[in-house]
Amino acid sequence: MSFDVSKIRQEFPILSTRVGQKPLVYLDNAATTQKPRAVIDALESYYTETNANIHRGVHFLAEKATAAYEEARGVVGKFLNAARAEEIVFVRGTTEGINLVASSFGNKFIAEGDEVIISAMEHHANIVPWQLLCEEKGAHLKVIPADENGELEMDAFDQLLSDKTKMVSVVHASNALGTINPIKSIIDKSHAVGARVLIDGAQAVGHFPVDVQKLNCDFFVFSGHKLFGSTGVGAIYGRFDLLESMPPYQGGGDMINEVTFEKTTYKEPPGRFEAGTPNIAGVIGMARAIEYLENLDRALLLQHEEDLLHHATARLNEVEGIKIYGTSKNKVSLVAFTLEGSHPHDMATVLDADGIAIRAGHHCTQPLHSRYGITATARASFAFYNTREEIDILTESLKKIQLLFA
Ligand code: ALA
Repeated sequence: MSFDVSKIRQEFPILSTRVGQKPLVYLDNAATTQKPRAVIDALESYYTETNANIHRGVHFLAEKATAAYEEARGVVGKFLNAARAEEIVFVRGTTEGINLVASSFGNKFIAEGDEVIISAMEHHANIVPWQLLCEEKGAHLKVIPADENGELEMDAFDQLLSDKTKMVSVVHASNALGTINPIKSIIDKSHAVGARVLIDGAQAVGHFPVDVQKLNCDFFVFSGHKLFGSTGVGAIYGRFDLLESMPPYQGGGDMINEVTFEKTTYKEPPGRFEAGTPNIAGVIGMARAIEYLENLDRALLLQHEEDLLHHATARLNEVEGIKIYGTSKNKVSLVAFTLEGSHPHDMATVLDADGIAIRAGHHCTQPLHSRYGITATARASFAFYNTREEIDILTESLKKIQLLFA
């Protein structure tokens, strides 16, 4: 079976946008992915046929919305191969997911003198919550270094691990370099010293399947909007016994069993962690995005993305003065680069005039950029709906920029 990218592209209405006279070349998928018609329709149909608050009403629409929301939990659970749907907590996105675990798990289980390990290639969302926790608790944050190719130095990781390590929180696939980290080995080694492991899966789930039971991770977080769903929604997978041992993150409606002024009792997970009215439409849309993705042949999608990565790496290397950051063999489909004589922001602006959308800057990974002695890169990030032709357009445009700034 071959992969018909032009047919796929028709399912994403925004991809036919024109930027002035030029067709849109959307290469900013690591920032957010575009949405297929199936997801857009699901959001519309939620608001035209289902909208009501959940877990609160007995009326027709309340029951319908509650059923759709809980059905979505099952879809997400199955997507990650969680042992049960109750291991899925809906949140606003990866950032809130990590903050929830750092705050709830961290407050209960991390004490003075304990250590939390992250890596040099973490997004700020997987640095700052742990820093805040460590500052509050008098715990220590340790960092697995990255090498010149953008791979984690696993020997150094071995040295960092000890019985003081209580949490290891690492990114599955780097948003800034593309590196896919050896998380199975990280998880096994961390468990061997009794630490828990959180995996930031924001840049992983849209590219390849994830099985949390096989990985045996304790927590896995991701965002809907990088998975062809809407913004403002995401999920945490948490092993049920761990979630059960954790206190609430926020207090409010729908997370309690009983409230008195003397004492409040909390729901079992996941309800305990979902205070207030959630992003009901977003959750349902995220489930439709997952179904959309799973109805495609994911092995073929991955093959196509790998072809895009190889094509982009080869073509961009033709541009004089280019330097690619992140040259691991194990990468998701993105290329981060600098071009001699041209600031990434200027590059992005000139590319925009050619209809090309990329991201330029530190990609919320300032410490990683410092590691390489730079402040910014330009990043072209691909999804399965991108084409070799789009990469060729990017390459030609970069060649023009190179001449312009040379
Ligand atoms: N974290 C997202 C990115 O890498 C926004 O662009």
